[in-house]
Amino acid sequence: MAILPHGGSLIDLIASGEERERLLDEAKGLKSLRINTWTISDLDLIGVGAFSPLTGFLNEEDYHSVVDHMRLADGTVWSIPITLSISEEEAKNLTIGEQVSLIGEQDGIIYGLLNIGSIYKVDQGEEARKVFKTDDLEHPGVKKLMERSPIYVGGSIVVLNRPKPERFGEFYYDPAVTRRLFEEKGWKSVVGFQTRNPVHRAHEYIQKSAMEIVDGLFLNPLVGETKSDDVPADVRMKSYLVLLENYYPQDRTFLGVFPAAMRYAGPREAIFHAMVRKNYGCTHFIVGRDHAGVGDYYGTYEAQEIFSNFTSEELGISPLFFEHSFFCTKCGNMASSKTCPHSKEDHLTLSGTKVRGLLRDGVCPPPEFTRPEVAKVLIEGMSHQVVI
Ligand code: ADX
Repeated sequence: MAILPHGGSLIDLIASGEERERLLDEAKGLKSLRINTWTISDLDLIGVGAFSPLTGFLNEEDYHSVVDHMRLADGTVWSIPITLSISEEEAKNLTIGEQVSLIGEQDGIIYGLLNIGSIYKVDQGEEARKVFKTDDLEHPGVKKLMERSPIYVGGSIVVLNRPKPERFGEFYYDPAVTRRLFEEKGWKSVVGFQTRNPVHRAHEYIQKSAMEIVDGLFLNPLVGETKSDDVPADVRMKSYLVLLENYYPQDRTFLGVFPAAMRYAGPREAIFHAMVRKNYGCTHFIVGRDHAGVGDYYGTYEAQEIFSNFTSEELGISPLFFEHSFFCTKCGNMASSKTCPHSKEDHLTLSGTKVRGLLRDGVCPPPEFTRPEVAKVLIEGMSHQVVI
């Protein structure tokens, strides 16, 4: 039997058929809120159950519980507040108990309905310090948070229209689908891998180490909003495809995207990422060095340590922790301090900035760092400045 979704059952709030038609009709007579791409992605992920057990944007009680204790008010583990921010003007116009439509600010599409459960003002500085461990505006997650209005509206949702991916649509699978596919493949254990980067040799090494002990790998790159200097999602997708084709067993790997925004919340985001991958049907989840981190805001292994706040029953998914990995020239293979006795001078490590610089200049990083096929795709992608 497949692993249980977080909270016990997979949420499905996607309206279809006649009910959808009826709700779309009703929506036309309702007040509306304009939502941006980030919120559309959150709405959709709630609707398809990727964020199970959430059934909507956090109400006030759950919000405070998540920010203060990394749990929903009923005690379920949840580490990132999923919230809908509205302006003071909009708030004045709304009442609790009312239903409103959620309309894309750019395309005017009615993406869903919200049943207003609470309207509340938050202390964003406090949210930043608790969720991101800093209120420094240089932190991309904090910056995003502070740009929003501090008034949030919570309540349950229904999805009426799904966002349409511009590219790589064939790699979008809902959690119900990945769960079925993993079962059809006969995978009893599946390891999920989160990434917002191209898969370099260190990523490959930890994925393959995990693959030695599980039935399948779910390569699940995040393709929602990322900061502007991260490699664009469509370039990354091409790089994943050439890598999988050339270096991975086809019958033990599965590529599907995670269309969420990147929060850069380090440790807390690692918990969130794990819970979501459980919903997609993973039994295991990889957490390496500085997972979901940015700059020097988090300790190298903080995103691993945070898991000890919860019991394995509460988590439901097994985290697999990996040390900082590198190519060791003396060993002649990939390794970590757990397996390699040599000194730092023998280890090949390149910073993200250095690698991006090389690629931008059309120079392949050493094959011990990045597979040549991957480097080629990245160089091409960077030179065209393809952005989605
Ligand atoms: S993340 O923001 O999505 O976490 P990234 O795509 O770089 O960033 O990392 C994906 C996963 O690989 C994370 O679990 C991260 O901790 C892990 N990771 C990245 N680089 C290394 C490395 N050199 N050694 C060990 N783990 C790594």
